[in-house]
Amino acid sequence: MHPAARLDGIETSLIRQINALATPFSVNLGIGEPNVEPDGRFREMAAEATRGSWHYSANAGTLSLRKKLAAVLAPGFDPKTELCVTAGTEEGLFALMQAWVGTGDEVLVPNPGFLAYATVARICGATPVPYDLDPDGWRLDVDALARRVTERTKLIVVNTPSNPLGSVVDAETLWRIAELADERDLLVVSDEVYREIWYESPPPSMLGLGRNVLVLDGFSKSHAMTGLRLGWIAARKPLMGPIVKAHQYIATCASVFAQDLAERILDDAEWNAGWLARVREQFRTQRDAAMHEIERHLDVTIAPPAGAFYAFVPVPFCGTVDFARSLATDAAVLTIPGVAFGSAGEGFLRISYAASIDQIGSGIERIGRYMKELGR
Ligand SMILES: Cc1ncc(COP(=O)(O)O)c(C=O)c1O
Repeated sequence: MHPAARLDGIETSLIRQINALATPFSVNLGIGEPNVEPDGRFREMAAEATRGSWHYSANAGTLSLRKKLAAVLAPGFDPKTELCVTAGTEEGLFALMQAWVGTGDEVLVPNPGFLAYATVARICGATPVPYDLDPDGWRLDVDALARRVTERTKLIVVNTPSNPLGSVVDAETLWRIAELADERDLLVVSDEVYREIWYESPPPSMLGLGRNVLVLDGFSKSHAMTGLRLGWIAARKPLMGPIVKAHQYIATCASVFAQDLAERILDDAEWNAGWLARVREQFRTQRDAAMHEIERHLDVTIAPPAGAFYAFVPVPFCGTVDFARSLATDAAVLTIPGVAFGSAGEGFLRISYAASIDQIGSGIERIGRYMKELGR
């Protein structure tokens, strides 16, 4: 028996493959979720949420949550027709690509970029077309992006702050991408799931930048709710109808427990502001520790990431998949080879600093020691 042809050539992600090499002695710097635990108030809100409805909600999510999302996070979007709550950001990505992308279409994806963009495009029958980010600061060059647009281009994917780069796209660039989409009659999806994790100033958003822009966001990273699966999409009414239809056949609705909890989070503005400030403070401390250890043990200086919790670090090896595998098995430290995020990631390792200061220190020290053993 063969699996369906749509999965031909689609492998388990390198992230999962590397994580499968973990032992109890490994230091895990390959992780893609916040090392943050809920505080007392957060757990109390979750307990209250268990006493709410256990039944299906509307496919697009409870109207009361959509109203709060519109009030707090997506001003100017009609809760009835322009917001859809999804079972995580990833399901939102899947639903919107199922709705808008098909055989023969091209989807422009960042290189390096989160690997689900190209994979989901392929599952939908489309061809992912990478657009390279400039390694000098990982800048997004709109003119270079525009040169990749063809008659078949349907969708441009933007991710800010970026996984795996930690870079942020500036407001003017976002505005120019929205303008390009309007001119060429294309769609843009802006994945902003790391939007709340920033260090100097809040990253600009594509929300409201034109009729062809869809914004994807969720509670996984901002509220360390990765296992509760809660995301949302904001898009203008003509784009949203097909997305809700696709989402209905994928998930029916997001978990009503997670939806209820999200409402409570948005209702308690004071707690939420304090929570987000603490999360940012913790990541700032971890980021600074990672920058220090990288400079000390790996002999490179990189620009401090402006958002998310990843450092994309150049290493003097070309086969970084093998290097990351041997780091996992011989040096007991997990990192993700940059090429897992596209060809432009070759020569880099993604080091996640969603880890304790001790783990960041000992993990990066192990990488440095291993590199020295190999004579680099
Ligand atoms: C850029 C990016 N988008 C989306 C996701 C998926 O997030 P969620 O847990 O909300 O599905 C991730 C998770 O790592 C991510 O890094």
